[in-house]
Amino acid sequence: MIGRNDPCWCGSQKKWKKCHWPDKGTEKEDLAAKYLRDYEIILKTPEQIEGIERACQLAAHILNELCLAAKEGVTTNELDLLSQKLHKEAGALAAPLGYGSPPFPKTICTSLNEVICHGIPNDIPLKEGDILNIDVSCILGGYFGDCSRMVTIGKISAEQQRVCDATHACLHASIEILKPGVLIKEIGDVIERVAKERGCSVVDQFVGHGVGLAFHEAPQVPHCHNRISIPLVPGMTFTIEPMINACVREGVIDKSNQWEARTKDGKPSAQEEHTILITDSGYKILTNL
Ligand code: MF3
Ligand code: CO
Repeated sequence: MIGRNDPCWCGSQKKWKKCHWPDKGTEKEDLAAKYLRDYEIILKTPEQIEGIERACQLAAHILNELCLAAKEGVTTNELDLLSQKLHKEAGALAAPLGYGSPPFPKTICTSLNEVICHGIPNDIPLKEGDILNIDVSCILGGYFGDCSRMVTIGKISAEQQRVCDATHACLHASIEILKPGVLIKEIGDVIERVAKERGCSVVDQFVGHGVGLAFHEAPQVPHCHNRISIPLVPGMTFTIEPMINACVREGVIDKSNQWEARTKDGKPSAQEEHTILITDSGYKILTNL
C-alpha cells in the first residue's frame, strides 16, 4: 500500500501527500467552494495563477516603459499612445479602455499632483515639480494584471516627496504582513498606522480588489481601518493600491468627466499598486519585474 510520504503514483516525483493525496485535493476544493459561497472570492488554480502571473508581468513591463518615458515636456496623451502600442505588440488589451460608465476613454490612468486616482491622459506637457501616478491594467490571454507607481519630474517639494515616500512605505509594510490566516482588515490597519506616522491621510473612497479572472473581483481591500474579517488563504489574488494624501483624506470626483478624483484641499496625493498572490507560506508580488 502507498504511504503519505511515498512518491506519488502519477510519476511527479513529489510525495503522495503533496500531490494526488485524496484528502489534500478535497480540502482544497472544499475551501474554494466555501470562499466562493461565503465571500464570492475565486481561489485560483495553478493553471489560472500562471496566466495571471503572465498578465501581471506584462503590466509591470508596460508600467516600467511608461515611467521611463515620463519626462518634462511629454504629455500624458503621448504616454497613452505608447501604452496602446505596447499592449498591441504584446497581444494584450488595456482593461481601462471603455471600462465602467461613462466608459473610461484611455488605456491608462495618469493621476497628476492633486489627482487621487483615475486621471485621464490629456495634452498638457509634464513640467518640473509634477508628481504623476501611472496605472496600468492589462488583459492577456483572458487574465488580468494591475499595477501603478509614481514618477517625479525634476525637483519636487518636500511635501510631495513626503507623500510619495509614505505611499511606498504604506504599500510595502502592508504587503510584508501577508500570509494565510491574516485578516483583510489588518492590511488597512498597517496602512493607516504608517500613513499617520508620516503625517499623511489615507483615502477611504477607493479600495484594492480581487483581480485575475476579471478586472475587479471580490474581495474589496480597503486601505483604511475596516471590519472585514476574511482570513487570507492560498490562491487568493488581489491588489493593494493605497492612495495617500498630504493633508485631508476627502476627495471630489470631477463633475464633467465623472472619473478623476481630486483632493478636496488641492494638496498632493500619491498612489502605488501591486497585484499579490497568497501562497502556502506567505505571498508573491506578481507585478514585480
Ligand atoms: N487600478 C485601478 C483600479 O483598479 C485602475 C482603474 S482603471 C479605470 O481601479 F478604468 F477604472 F479607471
Ligand atoms: Co486596481
